[in-house]
Formats: sequence, structure tokens, C-alpha cells
Amino acid sequence: MDKIIGLIDLDYFYAQCEMQRNYAIRGKPVVIVMPSIRENSGAIATCNYEARALKIKSGMPLSLAKKLADPSTVFINADKLYYEEISTKIFEIVDYFCERVEQVSIDEAYFDLTNPSGYDKAVEISNKIKQRIKSELGLTCSIGIGPNKLIAKMICSIKKPDGLGVIKPNEVDLFLSKQRATDLIGVGEKAEEEFKRHGVLMVLDIKKFSKADLILWFGEAIGSKFYDFAFGIDNRPIEPNREKQQLSRLMTIKQDSCDYEVVVLNVDFLVDMLYKQVLDLKKKFRTVSLIVVTDKIETITKSRTKPTDIETVDELKEISRELLKSFLNESSSYIRRVGVKVSNFEENTGFQKKLFDY
Ligand code: TMP
Ligand code: CA
Repeated sequence: MDKIIGLIDLDYFYAQCEMQRNYAIRGKPVVIVMPSIRENSGAIATCNYEARALKIKSGMPLSLAKKLADPSTVFINADKLYYEEISTKIFEIVDYFCERVEQVSIDEAYFDLTNPSGYDKAVEISNKIKQRIKSELGLTCSIGIGPNKLIAKMICSIKKPDGLGVIKPNEVDLFLSKQRATDLIGVGEKAEEEFKRHGVLMVLDIKKFSKADLILWFGEAIGSKFYDFAFGIDNRPIEPNREKQQLSRLMTIKQDSCDYEVVVLNVDFLVDMLYKQVLDLKKKFRTVSLIVVTDKIETITKSRTKPTDIETVDELKEISRELLKSFLNESSSYIRRVGVKVSNFEENTGFQKKLFDY
């Protein structure tokens, strides 16, 4: 089956995080500084669009940014711990919608949209991710969707900020024919100069040469990669590096019901399935939630967290049943769908730490 890949990238991330916790700076140029141990030096990590209008850019020395700034410009030292906290919340939302997520930086991740199939579904899921990040965290992001990582990332950049762009397989050639060679992933200043030396400005110009030519210019690995990119070919797989933070199973019951004896059969069934999955993944968890969708399509979640790991399927079943009883005691609605979720997995120190420490 053809792959569908999404790339999510938060807009001017550090600056947006600061604007989120301090409404007073909204509308002003906001510049985030990576301070240096040398006095009055440092570099610009990122800035919002108001600052970009003043020609301030990521990577620029602080001294130059200060010259370009207007009196309303706000300079803020980067607070990485705060941005990491927000980053964790962002990718929990992506994880909720997608099984296979490869986080590539503090604010960027590729995610697999191949299943359930189709570009319409991919757009629908991506819009939900955007909406939840906006409503829960107050942040905007951009998402690109395409048949591979290259195309997803390129269309994402074009649609920034707060955008969503889709390039389907049959649109790749036309899309690339309008792009500059420097728009391809990995073409920095040095590669740009090399391309210019050979009269290559647009992606289309690359096609006038052979793979061997590009290998001569850039070496084996990079040359053949750029050559393939020019034809829209990028076979890099998504390499999931995020552990799922929760597991859940939901089902629609045969007939809307508020009868414990009826609904509990569904709950027990879900618990058995879920517990198998938990065992397969060798996960330990402490929180169990019962999710109920009523006949009015309201979603209600009731949760219980234990002080120690929940070890057995019987324990999981008992807690789920208690949650169901307590829901039925408090509600006068019929249940249409029911689900069981486990979360609060034992601390997983693996990936996130590695990425951020780096
Ligand atoms: P963004 O601001 O373009 O969204 O990039 C994401 C974050 O990565 C940004 O908020 C800060 C950090 N970053 C740097 O520290 N240096 C850089 O040159 C860039 C482009 C980003
Ligand atoms: Ca970004």
C-alpha cells in the first residue's frame, strides 16, 4: 500500500510558547535569545513574524538583531525546560491520534497516516490534531501531508504559519516543477553554491543531469539523495521513537443501554483485549479510565489512579466495573459506546531524555 506521511511543525515555537504565557507581548516583535557566556553576545533561536518583518532571523547574532529591532521589540532568554514541557504535551496529542510517530526535534515530528487509508482521512486526522493543540495549548502549528517525508516537509514549510497542505502522489511532479533546488531538504548554503556553479536553480534543472553528475558534485550519499529528491523519490521510513502514553479500546454496544448487566459484558470483553496488548508491550500502568459515549454523543471519562502498578487482569476488570457502576449511578443517559483506557505508564526515561539532552 502507498504510504501517507504527515509532518507537524510548530510555528516559531519558542516565541509562541512565550506569547502563550504572557499575553502582554502579543502583537509585538518577540525574539528568543540563546544567551552566551560572553557578555552581551548570544544568538537568535527564533522569533515571531512581527520580528521577521524587521528582518530578524534564527541564527543571527544578538548584536545584529538589536540593531534591527524597533522600540517595541521584546528580547527573551530561552527557557528550554518550559518549552520541553509544552513539547511533551504536543506530542501526547499527536500520539493519541497516531500509532507511529517519529519526533525529530523539540517541535517537529513525522507521523504515519497510511491507516486508515486515504488522503481525506489523513486531512481529517491532521485537522483534529491542529484543533486540539490550539484548544488545549493555545498554539498554532503547520502540517504537511504527502507520499513521503520529503514532500510532507516541503509542503508544510510552504503552508506556514497555521497551515495544512496536501500533495497527493499524482501531484508531486507538478509541485516539484515549481520549487527551487534550495527548497529540497538538506540543501544548505554550500550545496546551493555547488548547484549554482552548474546552472541549477530550480528542482527541474537537476533533471538535466545524471545521478553520476550529482555524485561527482556532492559525493555518493548526498548526490544520489538529491537526485532522487528531484524526482520526488524518498524512501526513508518513519522510525517511531515515541512510546505510546496510553492504550485504549472502544466498542459500540449492540443497543443503547443503561443496564449494568448488559454493559459490563462489553467492558469485560474490552478489558481482556486491552490487557493482552498491555502484556505484549510489557507496560506497567496505574490509571484506568472508563470512556462512555452517550446516546446524545457526549463523551464522558471517569478515571481512577492506584498508588501502585496494576498487575492483573482481574484488578483491571474490577476497577473498570466500579467505574461503570459509578457512571450509571450518576447518569441518566443511555450508553452508546464504551471504552477502557489505561495510562500513567511507568516512567520511560529512554527517548525524550536523549533527544533533549542532545
Ligand atoms: P521554529 O522557531 O522555526 O519553529 O524552530 C523551532 C525551535 O527550534 C525554535 O523555536 C528554537 C529552536 N531553533 C534554534 O534554537 N535555532 C535555530 O536556528 C532554529 C531554526 C530553531
Ligand atoms: Ca517549528
